[in-house]
Amino acid sequence: MTLTIPKVQMHKSGPPCSGLVWGTMRSQSQFSNAHALADHLRWLLDHGITTLDTASVYGHPDPFTVEEFLGEALAQVGADKFEIVTKCGIQRLSKHRPENKVRHFDFSEKEIRKSTDLSLQKLGVDCLDVMLLHRPDYLMDPDETAGTLDDLVAQGKIKHVGVSNLSVSRTELVASRLKAPIVTNQIEFSPLHLNPISDGTFDHAIRTGYKPMIWSPIGGGRLLTSEDEHVVKLRGLLGTIAKTYGLDGPADAAIAFVNKHPVGGIPVVGSGNRDRILGAIKAINTDMDRQDWYSIIAATNPSLFL
Ligand SMILES: NC(=O)c1ccc[n+]([C@@H]2O[C@H](COP(=O)([O-])OP(=O)(O)OC[C@H]3O[C@@H](n4cnc5c(N)ncnc54)[C@H](OP(=O)(O)O)[C@@H]3O)[C@@H](O)[C@H]2O)c1
Repeated sequence: MTLTIPKVQMHKSGPPCSGLVWGTMRSQSQFSNAHALADHLRWLLDHGITTLDTASVYGHPDPFTVEEFLGEALAQVGADKFEIVTKCGIQRLSKHRPENKVRHFDFSEKEIRKSTDLSLQKLGVDCLDVMLLHRPDYLMDPDETAGTLDDLVAQGKIKHVGVSNLSVSRTELVASRLKAPIVTNQIEFSPLHLNPISDGTFDHAIRTGYKPMIWSPIGGGRLLTSEDEHVVKLRGLLGTIAKTYGLDGPADAAIAFVNKHPVGGIPVVGSGNRDRILGAIKAINTDMDRQDWYSIIAATNPSLFL
């Protein structure tokens, strides 16, 4: 089988991105230094993964440090070879944000502008391909938030605007005040987390014409490691299904499951392991049978059949 990663459009207005995205959230645990991360980025390019997902808040053990780590690696490889998706709005306790007294969310003009400028500087780029509002800020003033994002597009600091973890109504609220189209909603979806298929999220994406980005398609590893009785059973089923398609194991069956939904979701994989990423590439080239797909639904949430 020839393994390819298709180039897809998140939305008709763009951006083009790779049909499998690599997420940087765990990168500081996976790579000991920026040089090792740069090697990994070159390997991703060689395999057709050109889109990287990051966020202002990512960093372990120190929040707000991944973008700088990624920027050092990108400087060695060439940031212009990638599409970069980043996010703003999560505030965590960190020595880099001494003003934060509690974890909170902030979609104010001041925070979005500050976060954008810091992302540009840390990543070492002139323009961000996509800026996502990371998690709902319940105190958001939609006119202020949308107006700020449109202005950043007009200034050429960001090319496209999207959201993440936003309900359909909140996404529509932001869209109602934005001039720019919303090009994606980055959400969780996996055999362990089925909400988007039945809560209207995927219907909204199809209706309005964007592809969601799918985070934690294997539940952040929990699908492979949890000893929870229900997960052990699900892992067994996914392992059996994987064999049918010549896939490496349950993780790849989970990615083929995610990939099957007609919404055309773009999986964001978080593994730093090359064999596992190759397995994911095989998975997005696999067309899972309808009845296998439904057997996973039945194992995870039989109430969806009622
Ligand atoms: N928008 C949001 O709110 C949000 C939230 C979470 C994540 N994200 C994005 O989505 C990306 C992916 O999330 P994720 O890392 O949770 O995705 P994931 O692909 O579901 O999980 C990756 C994790 O699973 C482990 N893993 C993979 N295969 C395994 C196997 N066969 N056995 C045991 N462990 C295995 C990986 O470890 P190895 O590295 O050792 O393979 C890694 O720790 C993040 O990097 C971030 O960019 C976004």
